[in-house]
Amino acid sequence: MGEGGVPRGRCHGFSNVSPLTFQNEELRNLSLSGHVGFDSLPDQLVNKSTSQGFCFNILCVGETGIGKSTLMDTLFNTKFESDPATHNEPGVRLKARSYELQESNVRLKLTIVDTVGFGDQINKDDSYKPIVEYIDAQFEAYLQEELKIKRSLFNYHDTRIHACLYFIAPTGHSLKSLDLVTMKKLDSKVNIIPIIAKADTIAKNELHKFKSKIMSELVSNGVQIYQFPTDEETVAEINATMSVHLPFAVVGSTEEVKIGNKMAKARQYPWGVVQVENENHCDFVKLREMLIRVNMEDLREQTHTRHYELYRRCKLEEMGFKDTDPDSKPFSLQETYEAKRNEFLGELQKKEEEMRQMFVMRVKEKEAELKEAEKEFVKVQKFLYMLFLFE
Ligand code: GTP
Ligand code: MG
Repeated sequence: MGEGGVPRGRCHGFSNVSPLTFQNEELRNLSLSGHVGFDSLPDQLVNKSTSQGFCFNILCVGETGIGKSTLMDTLFNTKFESDPATHNEPGVRLKARSYELQESNVRLKLTIVDTVGFGDQINKDDSYKPIVEYIDAQFEAYLQEELKIKRSLFNYHDTRIHACLYFIAPTGHSLKSLDLVTMKKLDSKVNIIPIIAKADTIAKNELHKFKSKIMSELVSNGVQIYQFPTDEETVAEINATMSVHLPFAVVGSTEEVKIGNKMAKARQYPWGVVQVENENHCDFVKLREMLIRVNMEDLREQTHTRHYELYRRCKLEEMGFKDTDPDSKPFSLQETYEAKRNEFLGELQKKEEEMRQMFVMRVKEKEAELKEAEKEFVKVQKFLYMLFLFE
């Protein structure tokens, strides 16, 4: 079914009808006797999107030195700027850097946001706050653009976070409370993809148990991670099979090592070589497949239709906007504005009245004080007069 319950692939017989009539009208199936050309719509969409370019924003949440920058470099086959963080940051701060990338004729404006100093403070109670604030600030910027009279969403640099890679330390034990608290605070705002960092430091049998432990902890704490979509035929199978491997255990490296007669990205150890793109060694390829090659568009869409929509709704409700009145009748923007205006004027009047009352009271008080002073003055005058008489 298409939008508004209209079956796809059907053609309406009348052109001059209101949207309401269009929805309720019985649709007639007509066959075309010649080529019209609207079958080129998908191509038109592709061309338009290609010429506009795309935005994709990744947030890397993880402790200092856990391998965030290395993984980003490995994923995009390039060297992004990054300066290693010190372990003595007073708090968590977010650092965003944007890049223009091109593959074939597709331009991608990529923003990588790093959590600097995450996990380094003795008191980690507020570590999630700067991350939540950053995500909300990007939603707010988009909402402000949307609410402008002269909007330019067409060439707006969208900075909303599309994917949050949550780097889990390869402890082999369980999630830290910091991980659970942070993920719980973020899960309604962003698509979380949990990954086990530096997975070359954990043994194979331990890794399996570690993965199940993490997943069961996420479920028991009600943390919603990003679900790979399975509703579209073309990706349903791959997404369903990949979900089983979550959280992906990844290894990052941009170093090329000679393996056989080929060069491959790997990490070299005294006892052997870990190949980043070898699926028997780690899940790096699975992560790249899921994040970039299969679900990038879904991540962008989910950000807009789910997370941003929730932010927008809460924000507008907070501002007093609503779709229906108490009798469930549609409430227009104009009516909401009028209601808010009246409410504001009422409050203003109340304040004015309070101030007026206060003023009258103060005047009365002052009057009483003056009368009292006058009485005192008369008394003193009488006293002086008496003194004068006796002298
Ligand atoms: P900050 O930005 O300073 O917080 O660090 P980061 O999280 O960006 O980590 P970075 O990528 O700078 O890596 C820190 C160290 O970990 C470097 O010495 C990397 O070579 C190493 N490293 C990165 N990825 C891996 C990995 O998958 N396995 C192992 N064993 N080491 C890794
Ligand atoms: Mg880094």
